[in-house]
Amino acid sequence: MNTIGLDIGTSSVKALLVAPNGEVLKVSCPEYPFQTPKPLWSETDASVWWDATLKAIRELLEGGGAGSIGGIGLTGQMHGLVLLDAKGEVLRPCIMWNDQRSFAECDEMTSIIGKDEILKITGNPVLAGFTAPKILWVQKNEPEIFAKIDKVLLPKDYIRYKLTGEFFTDVSDASGMSLLNVGKREWSQDILDALAWPRQWLPEVTESTEVSSKLSSSAAEMTGLPLGTPVVAGGGDCAAQAVGSSIVEEGKVSVTLGTSGVVFAQSDQYRVEPKGKLHSFCHAVPGKWHMMGVMLSAAGSFQWFKNQLAGDERRIESQGGKDAYEQLTKQAASIKPGSEGCLFLPYLSGERTPHPDPHARGAFIGLSLRHGIRHMTRSVLEGVSFGLNDSLTLMRGLGINPSNVILTGGGTRSSLWKQMLSDIFVSDCSLVNAKEGAAYGAALLAAVGIKVKETVEQASAEWIVETERILPSDNVKIYRKVYSHYQNLYPSLKDHFSSIAEIA
Ligand code: XUL
Repeated sequence: MNTIGLDIGTSSVKALLVAPNGEVLKVSCPEYPFQTPKPLWSETDASVWWDATLKAIRELLEGGGAGSIGGIGLTGQMHGLVLLDAKGEVLRPCIMWNDQRSFAECDEMTSIIGKDEILKITGNPVLAGFTAPKILWVQKNEPEIFAKIDKVLLPKDYIRYKLTGEFFTDVSDASGMSLLNVGKREWSQDILDALAWPRQWLPEVTESTEVSSKLSSSAAEMTGLPLGTPVVAGGGDCAAQAVGSSIVEEGKVSVTLGTSGVVFAQSDQYRVEPKGKLHSFCHAVPGKWHMMGVMLSAAGSFQWFKNQLAGDERRIESQGGKDAYEQLTKQAASIKPGSEGCLFLPYLSGERTPHPDPHARGAFIGLSLRHGIRHMTRSVLEGVSFGLNDSLTLMRGLGINPSNVILTGGGTRSSLWKQMLSDIFVSDCSLVNAKEGAAYGAALLAAVGIKVKETVEQASAEWIVETERILPSDNVKIYRKVYSHYQNLYPSLKDHFSSIAEIA
């Protein structure tokens, strides 16, 4: 039987139809916008995900094939807060993963529960992107909405509810809520009691390969899929992306260059970075965990740069010329490593790893009259790569020493960027055949869930192979030097970022 992988992303739903041998048969990817109504805020109306999901599934089924589908696997952006009332109606727009409004509530929650206790139970400090501080924000700022809460769901689990009428989540996505006992893989009653929030708000939590529920008759009618199609728990997009890129063994590491940047390592044991600088979450591989560094604006920094500062390149693209990104990276390749002293800090939406600071901001530093768009482009790519290297350095400090880093995400289309990452990580890097990201991991989890494959490890070995390897070049030396300058910049600017925040 084929499976469908559905990824409820930040700006699109991606739906894949995948054969039992791992071949991607069809892709559909309807897009939608998200809103930033105030500084630090980031929201989406959950109904746009559902409309896009219906469109995506119908597109996959165009020309038939519904009968060949054995199951659906779900994944999506993590941490988002979807609130439902007792009738199952959405109470307010989803407060998303990159929304940073709840920084004061992080401190409040930490002081209620205790810094060490929260790190011990959830594997992480409370961070502004996570779900629980957002609930606290609603409690304080929107009491009339808070009073009506009946269910708290993550984005992909809202879509599960629309597909099946049931409330479930999986351990990997639940790990990002600051409400899960990550070591025990169950909700933390201690945290819920301390916050005086009812357990009934939360869905059942299962391993990622479990069949959570089945397609309802109304969803069957709306999608064209058979009634009762199994819906598998799936995972948060980081864990699903990792499963879909073969990160299913202890010590394997991947780096994803999407809007956000993710450095991801599987761990067979539950371990916590002593200062909580790396996320420690349950993996979508049953019974395993992972450590992760998250950069909020990775390829997102490059997208911002193209949209705001590369008018000429965008004009050429719109007149039928070369893709604006390609033009920019071609120009950047003509500049020497280190961008002649122009450095970029990629903290355009604040940062999580290694500087959990909602007020951190982007910056070009070291600009002179000699510098132009080519240098600035290169420095953006370098700054993002250095930021990712910060997470890898933390992992190496914990004894995770990968012999090879698997690169995934849209940013890997650029050969300049891939080589830069290998040079800055001082590591072999490789690409794999699976290019469809988290949705592919979700389809794989579904194949295991409906028993088309026995285990995640077996499916990964059969579906995913290396297609390209990049070795570090002579630029390693110069990048070591530039990286040490980069590392000094955030500590020097930290206090200025906080005071500048008052202006915004
Ligand atoms: C992970 C995270 C992001 C979102 C975006 O912790 O916040 O990667 O899941 O998709």
